[in-house]
Amino acid sequence: MICIILVAGHDELLEKEIKSCPEYVYLRGVPKALLPGAGGKKILDFWWEAIRMRQLFSEIYLVTNADKYKHYERWATASDFPVENIINDGTTTFENRIGAVADFDLVLRIKNVNDDVMVVAGDMLFQDQKFDVQQVLNYFQLKKSNLAIYYEMEPEEVISSRGIVEVTDGNKIAHFYEKPLEGITESRLASVVFYCFHKDGLTSVKEFLDSNIKAEERSFGKYMDYLINTKGVNVYGMKLPTGFQLIGHVGLDDYKRWSDVFSHRKQIEDKIEPYTKRAYARVGLMGNPSDGFHGKTISLSIANFWAEVTIHESEKLVLTPHPLNDPTEFGSMADLHGISRKEGYLGGLRLLQATCMRFYQYCCDRGIALAKRNFTLKYDTNIPRQVGLAGSSAIVTATLGCLMHFFNLTYADMPKEKMPQFILDVEKQELIIHAGLQDRVIQVYEGLVYMDFSLEIFEAQGFGNYSHIEVNHLPHFWLAYLGDPSDSGKIHSDVNLRWKNKDKDVIEAMKKFALLTDQAKVAFQNHDWSLLADLMNQNFEIRRSIYSDLSLGAANLRMIEIARQFGSAVKFPGSGGAVIGLCVDTSKIGELKAAFQAEGCVFCDIIPHGALDA
Ligand SMILES: *[C@@H]1O[C@H](CO)[C@@H](O)[C@H](O)[C@H]1NC(C)=O
Ligand SMILES: *[C@@H]1O[C@H](CO)[C@@H](O)[C@H](O)[C@H]1NC(C)=O
Ligand SMILES: *[C@@H]1O[C@H](CO)[C@@H](O)[C@H](O)[C@H]1NC(C)=O
Repeated sequence: MICIILVAGHDELLEKEIKSCPEYVYLRGVPKALLPGAGGKKILDFWWEAIRMRQLFSEIYLVTNADKYKHYERWATASDFPVENIINDGTTTFENRIGAVADFDLVLRIKNVNDDVMVVAGDMLFQDQKFDVQQVLNYFQLKKSNLAIYYEMEPEEVISSRGIVEVTDGNKIAHFYEKPLEGITESRLASVVFYCFHKDGLTSVKEFLDSNIKAEERSFGKYMDYLINTKGVNVYGMKLPTGFQLIGHVGLDDYKRWSDVFSHRKQIEDKIEPYTKRAYARVGLMGNPSDGFHGKTISLSIANFWAEVTIHESEKLVLTPHPLNDPTEFGSMADLHGISRKEGYLGGLRLLQATCMRFYQYCCDRGIALAKRNFTLKYDTNIPRQVGLAGSSAIVTATLGCLMHFFNLTYADMPKEKMPQFILDVEKQELIIHAGLQDRVIQVYEGLVYMDFSLEIFEAQGFGNYSHIEVNHLPHFWLAYLGDPSDSGKIHSDVNLRWKNKDKDVIEAMKKFALLTDQAKVAFQNHDWSLLADLMNQNFEIRRSIYSDLSLGAANLRMIEIARQFGSAVKFPGSGGAVIGLCVDTSKIGELKAAFQAEGCVFCDIIPHGALDA
């Protein structure tokens, strides 16, 4: 791919106003692209820095006019730009200009270009570090089609000053309006001279020029109008998180105003405060196990345990290992042996990395440009491991929250109902962790959530139906988990496989789970805790009927037994390692706790975590 920077415009108005302003005597005769932009850096330098990264382009050309050629030649020498790649279009006045598309064509012709091309107007002001050209190119490669960059206009900008695009859901440009009158379109997305063109379509440049003789008709706005509206050529759009200013005919006021605005904004944004996101452990209160059986479930976020991820801007992109969970130093071989046996080899660092990886991929796939900033991610968690309280997905969920905050993504960029699937994909596809959606749903939604994963709903909308249940005034739930879950004696169950093979018993069980869930929802609404306790017990029995006792594991079954001895309702909150109970009669809870502790389990009273925006 090659890059063409256009700086051949004749900026008469701006030049004239600068000339008559004593304050700017040192800028007399300086072309627009070489004026200082935000923070004093030359406007063209912003482009040059964005473009010269990592050898993205095989060649970069700069097209200027004869009047300003010397200025650019001087700039090129000072900036390490190949002087032989400056192309002079020979014009010296606004009246004899040839038009931007003709300048573009000039390079295509004299350099015999047979390659994809990115073309930018090098005299546009934009906010530094607000985009990464690499991402633009990635999106172009992904779409294998022309690409137009656009931005969302500021409230004070008028649509009649720009090319305005209407964009479809799939990011295709449906219509292009060159400087439309107010009211012609609702869109405030402004396309600027920042395009990627596929080499196969470049012949249209000549066709366009042949039918437009006058210079004022040879603007990129007119060319895009011709490509999109007349010829119906595919052009995709990509929105960048910065505006572009000083386009076309502008005066000194515009110049002063926008360089101030962008400098000021950068100063504010340079202070992105560190941000911390928590995601809570969860207990499955009712329904099928967490494994994509298209069933129904009710889950509760608990404030007892959480994972916390912190992001702050930094010079380099750094993922920080956790001293306990990603150990790199050990007391001795015996220590290493003990830790590895107990904790395994899978810390949280891989979760951070995989989340970043998928996040970037997601943004690339959807044409969401990310600001060019590095960051440091750190995490901490107190969610006990291997007891099925969704500790891994909590780290992924919190990391996603941090990245969205850091890069200023909203639910418009990643809808809330799709976040659970994103989190699941990180784990399943990147890290081969077997899991289902429900843990991710509760971690994104928080509180007490009823989830309906019915196939019909899924097929209709691509995600389940999720609704909050009032989380205040819940009865007293308790949680017990194994002190050493590596000894739980569990063996792998074949329920997943049987479900895939449409095993009658498994399908029947899933139906019963769904039924229980609906009944439990009513029990929650009526505060009918004896009914809820009864349903929890039934829930466990159904589970036991399809998972053999061997796959449930002796230690897990022992926990069920203890709870029942004290008259508590009980079930698994996850896939084993822990049990959750409900004592309608709370008089024996002290004894219950002592009994669990006597057998090496950890016992705690559940503190529900309410949803913030339920
Ligand atoms: C991000 O970090 C890399 C590696 O340290 C560095 O080369 C790059 O310039 C940094 N990017 C930004 C925008 O600071
Ligand atoms: C974040 O996005 C919102 C809405 O898109 C915008 O108003 C705001 O200025 C952005 N903030 C930063 C720091 O980019
Ligand atoms: C899913 O939720 C929507 C909106 O809450 C509701 O209208 C619809 O009936 C629900 N679908 C089913 C099958 O329950």
